[in-house]
Amino acid sequence: MPTYDPEPFRIKVVEPIKLISPDKRRTAIANAGYNVFTLRAEDIFIDLLTDSGTGAMSHHQWAALMEGDESYAGARSYFELKKAVEDIFGFKHFVPTHQGRAAENIIAAVLVKHGNHIPSNMHFDTTDANIRARGGRPVNLVIEEAFDPANPHPFKGNMDIEKLQAFIEQTGPQNIPMGMITITNNAGGGQPVSMENIKAVATLYHSYGIPFFIDAARYAENAYFIKLREPGYANHTPIEIAREMFSCADGFCMSAKKDAIVNIGGLLALNDDVTFQRISNELILREGFVSYGGLAGRDLSAMAVGLYEGLDEDYLAYRLNQTAYLAGLIREQGIGLIEPPGGHAIYVDAGSLLPHIPHAEFPGQVLAVEMYLEGGIRTCEIGSVMFAHPHPDTGEIIYPKLELVRLAIPRRVYTQSHLSYVAETLGKIAQRAKKLKGYRFTYAPELLRHFTARFEPI
Ligand SMILES: Cc1ncc(COP(=O)(O)O)c(C=O)c1O
Repeated sequence: MPTYDPEPFRIKVVEPIKLISPDKRRTAIANAGYNVFTLRAEDIFIDLLTDSGTGAMSHHQWAALMEGDESYAGARSYFELKKAVEDIFGFKHFVPTHQGRAAENIIAAVLVKHGNHIPSNMHFDTTDANIRARGGRPVNLVIEEAFDPANPHPFKGNMDIEKLQAFIEQTGPQNIPMGMITITNNAGGGQPVSMENIKAVATLYHSYGIPFFIDAARYAENAYFIKLREPGYANHTPIEIAREMFSCADGFCMSAKKDAIVNIGGLLALNDDVTFQRISNELILREGFVSYGGLAGRDLSAMAVGLYEGLDEDYLAYRLNQTAYLAGLIREQGIGLIEPPGGHAIYVDAGSLLPHIPHAEFPGQVLAVEMYLEGGIRTCEIGSVMFAHPHPDTGEIIYPKLELVRLAIPRRVYTQSHLSYVAETLGKIAQRAKKLKGYRFTYAPELLRHFTARFEPI
């Protein structure tokens, strides 16, 4: 019987949740155009849509909120955050942003020109879209093992170094204004990147004079995976590993809504003085002054505390054990998932569960809708709805290799029995999988279409 060590916290504040009736769930999802993003949160029992901004803050963070300094410029809260950012990440300059995509927008506005290419292991959807919105081309060069859901490779988020080198040679470094890597690799299953790979990527980018930026949303989980899995790091603390990872890079953008365990916030940091000047100007235009970047002072204070809490070893052990527990229950029922389980989420292989539904009829979307109908659980499709796109030259639709449904686990929010219920619900759907049918769009915007698309059953 899988289980995990007790949560290293006790619950001080509770929020009721309710499972509405199957009839009401049917009406709710139909009214939402079969898009779980459009559901009312009140109609959801267990919300695994995302681990972003959905964590439970600690009493220290709530206390920090109360002490937030709301001065327009130079607030005490800004300096608290600055101290934490310098201590953990070590870059010369930083700005707060209201969330990760704002940091991406700003770095893309400053560095990406029409026709530029930006390689990464895998870009997350907002990073991908922000590069495309500036006329650039995001390029994903993760190792091949990432596309084999059963492969137990310990660092499936690693970049394919040979492919990266060939890509830079072919494209020309002058057309690559920055190179990236995402830790952990959300779009590829929340899989970690090894320290060895981060260093090799950094060396390669730098040998061509390309600045190296990390998409650091889940930096703490990545650091803990390195501790657990990479030889030589067992006796290092997560903060030491984080410092070593970031010492290889020229900058990073980050959604603080994940490992910094805040409900809103982001960061952009770098060493280059000239680029920082341009970033500051762009930030003031779009987000706010450099010392608050679109956030309230209290948000900066809560982030300063959360950056350290996310690196706490007891917390990280519990966090990764909780994910592994849910994975164990799903695996036991013979349902395919990306192995080994990632840090923040389980990625169920909807393609193998629903082999009779083609990419164009969205097997991941089918499973996401069924999770809601069966158990009031909200999940997120990470497949053709999110990533299929026309080839920029030929117009042919390019489908992603995997059709996944992500069960993202909010930090410090759900208990072991919630997760058991999630696994049982999935098991019930698996038993009637053969009877399920696909969906087609009734509306789809050009960029980031999964957020607002509407569907109808085929
Ligand atoms: C790897 C990664 N990068 C960037 C983002 C965007 O961050 P935000 O939602 O704060 O804009 C996310 C959000 O899920 C992410 O997972």
